[in-house]
Amino acid sequence: EKGGFASFMDKEIHDQPKAVADTLLGRTDLKGRLALDDLRIDEAVLRSIDKIIVVACGTAAYSGHVAKYAIEHWCRIPVEVELAHEFRYRDPVVNEKTLVVAVTQSGETMDTLMAVRHAREQGAKVISIVNTHGSTIPRESDAVLYTHAGPEIAVASTKAFLAQITAAYLLGLYLAQLRGNKFPDEIDEILDELRAMPAKIQEVLDRGARVREIARWMADTSSVLFLGRHVGFPVALEGALKLKELAYIHAEGFAAGELKHGPIALIEPGQPVFVIVPSPRGRDSLHAKVISNIQEIRARGARTLVIAEDGDEAVVPYADEVFWVPQAPTLLAPLLTVVPLQLFACELSTARGLDVDQPRNLAKSVTVE
Ligand code: M6R
Repeated sequence: EKGGFASFMDKEIHDQPKAVADTLLGRTDLKGRLALDDLRIDEAVLRSIDKIIVVACGTAAYSGHVAKYAIEHWCRIPVEVELAHEFRYRDPVVNEKTLVVAVTQSGETMDTLMAVRHAREQGAKVISIVNTHGSTIPRESDAVLYTHAGPEIAVASTKAFLAQITAAYLLGLYLAQLRGNKFPDEIDEILDELRAMPAKIQEVLDRGARVREIARWMADTSSVLFLGRHVGFPVALEGALKLKELAYIHAEGFAAGELKHGPIALIEPGQPVFVIVPSPRGRDSLHAKVISNIQEIRARGARTLVIAEDGDEAVVPYADEVFWVPQAPTLLAPLLTVVPLQLFACELSTARGLDVDQPRNLAKSVTVE
């Protein structure tokens, strides 16, 4: 049931601290060692892989995008992310040394299932990250890492997305531990940060009133752009997808670095643009680059809606509105920065009088190719 919320989506957005906490639960032993018991793939095989390909669709694919940044950084294994339907039909280079990671909430997405079958036919091992127990994709995978988000009813994915990102971090840390890329205390440190995330997500939810208010004011907007760099890029893509799905508004997510390669031509006075700003405590140059992107679009009249970390005063002069999120390591920040965008889409859809849980033309699981 909706538990007092106006929609399942609203409820599921508020379930996210628990979805992340439950996905972490019981997966580290007392010494902080990661124990992914449900991974039945031989450790020797996992040590020998030389490439990871994440296959998924829609929101699940954006979690794969975040996974790429984290796993490459922690494990030094090349990671590709590919839409499952594109992967299947382009004769990809896949062999026994490839690990394919299939990410899916429903476990029934036909495009993803076909990609899994194709990968296994080529000799690859497949790990699936799945939310729905008893579904088809885990049955057809070599191993499964369940996300413990609980049932997701709303067509638009929210808590499953955060749980998928969390599971991908665990997989990355597990591989780093197994392959000796990180010292145990380094892994412990990241796990501690990860365990602190549910409370920070709650904090973002507690601060949600302002983004909802702005969404109501913007009910008649015809186009919204989203910009991000690094892990903020998939967050921008996800923010745009949520708005398309729920509010039927034209929305695009861009890598902020692409601006001058084309999208900046779209900026005209009054154009609303969300910008996801990376932590200033992370790589300096990354933060500075996004600040200069905000300046560039603001100079052309954009209305800048900025998502930034607490204390990042550098954004203030260029922001029409700032939505603050608690401090977190750059790689983990998507668990926080996407939340205001979910709230925005949910509220804007409601303000337009639309059905948030059952948007037109969409099904919860896409079981045809
Ligand atoms: O069940 P899956 O995670 O495999 O579904 C993948 C996509 O169809 C799904 O994420 C879709 O994009 C959602 N409607 C996004 O909100």
